[in-house]
Amino acid sequence: MLDDMIDHLRDRRTEPVWRPLPDATRETLRAPLDPAPCPLATIYDQFREQILPYGTGNTHPRFMGWVHGGGTPVGMLAEMLAAGLNANLGGRDHAPVEVERQVIRWAAEAFGLPATAGGLLVTGSSMANFMAVLMARTAALGADCRRDGLRDVRLTAYASASAHRCVPDALDMAGIGSAALRLIPTNNDFAMDQSALAAAIAADRQQGAKPFMVIGTAGSVDIGAFDDLPAIADLCAAEDLWFHVDGAFGALAALAPGLRHLVRGMDRARSIAFDFHKWAQVPYDAGCILVRDQADQLATFASSAAYLRPGARGLAANAPWPCDLGPDLSRGFRALKVWFTLQAFGADRLGAVAQQSCTIARHLAERIRAEPELELLAPVPLNIVCFRYRGTDPDNLNAELAADLQEAGIAAPSTTVIGGALAIRAAFVNHRSRIEDADILVEAVLATGRRRSGRQGDHGRKVEP
Ligand SMILES: Cc1ncc(COP(=O)(O)O)c(C=O)c1O
Repeated sequence: MLDDMIDHLRDRRTEPVWRPLPDATRETLRAPLDPAPCPLATIYDQFREQILPYGTGNTHPRFMGWVHGGGTPVGMLAEMLAAGLNANLGGRDHAPVEVERQVIRWAAEAFGLPATAGGLLVTGSSMANFMAVLMARTAALGADCRRDGLRDVRLTAYASASAHRCVPDALDMAGIGSAALRLIPTNNDFAMDQSALAAAIAADRQQGAKPFMVIGTAGSVDIGAFDDLPAIADLCAAEDLWFHVDGAFGALAALAPGLRHLVRGMDRARSIAFDFHKWAQVPYDAGCILVRDQADQLATFASSAAYLRPGARGLAANAPWPCDLGPDLSRGFRALKVWFTLQAFGADRLGAVAQQSCTIARHLAERIRAEPELELLAPVPLNIVCFRYRGTDPDNLNAELAADLQEAGIAAPSTTVIGGALAIRAAFVNHRSRIEDADILVEAVLATGRRRSGRQGDHGRKVEP
């Protein structure tokens, strides 16, 4: 199995990026469980035939959809070791908990947070943003809100109109309601308009609401834009608001000397959400919440139960336990793959991957500017390029075109909407991606666009790779 997977990763470039799952395979994967045991070799055959060829494709250098990391064999091996240990990182006194603490310290230091900082590895930035909202709520209302709820306080939060969808979801899940999130319009740089933000806070205060947090985005999901983090930090200090940064992928710009200026001000945040499974190439899932002061985590998540009482000695020592720093009790050893990855490649090389992603994106943008049939739809501040093929009914044309490329296995961009126009969106996150992959994308978009523009009615047609 190990040999096969290492070969698979080595040869990924020669394979299609993605293959649609055949109906027959999907049916097999819906079969009921046979109560009799099945030999491991048979199950592994099923894996090779029914699962391995039909992944998302994000290990491939021409996967450019959404924001997906590429993973590494180092992370894969660490996952195997972690599964062998079968550690539960909810608490207790064992080395795996120390590994997670070390990883959190490394991250806090990389982002310039003080020695009081804490954090936790979580599924992803959606969970990390949710935890930040809960901590900001507790800080605003006091610990009693954990028992009493919001009572009749109308909390309001603020984020850019291009904040990730998980941000309103976090307000929703926290019981505050997604309508309590004011989506502030963006300026020409796609960053939150600071005067609109200040005006929204003032208007809410005047109407009896209690503003409690501002979420700055470091790397917006659509185009990779950064909010003015120092200005948000100043405003939050003046208004006594919790300053949270959603840096799902953009926070790791801190590792690249050429990009570091983008995250200036992030070190003043009270909490930061980001993912090791994106630019840091750790296999899924490996999200992270960092908190300027671990006391805020304890105030929000610690609870007492007789059977979970940390002690002074023995296995029950080693407080505070991770279960008091977040919502999960049983937790896997995510930290090991992060620990291996950070050491095996080093922060500098991971920063170089981020830099390389941006170089490829800039190259793609240049190619698009030079092609009269293509149109760039947004600035390219980071690693994401939004563009389209010009033609009649462009939204439909480009949606079909993106699906054509995916189905042909040539490249897998995703789509988004920029200023009302459907865009093909290419996000470079994978360390395996090269300049030539951007060139292949351009050629494929041009060829497919020409073919489709000539045959507008022929939507279901597949493009030959
Ligand atoms: C800016 C931003 N925030 C949050 C998220 C959610 O992160 P996750 O998918 O790890 O939950 C993403 C995902 O791409 C993102 O780009």
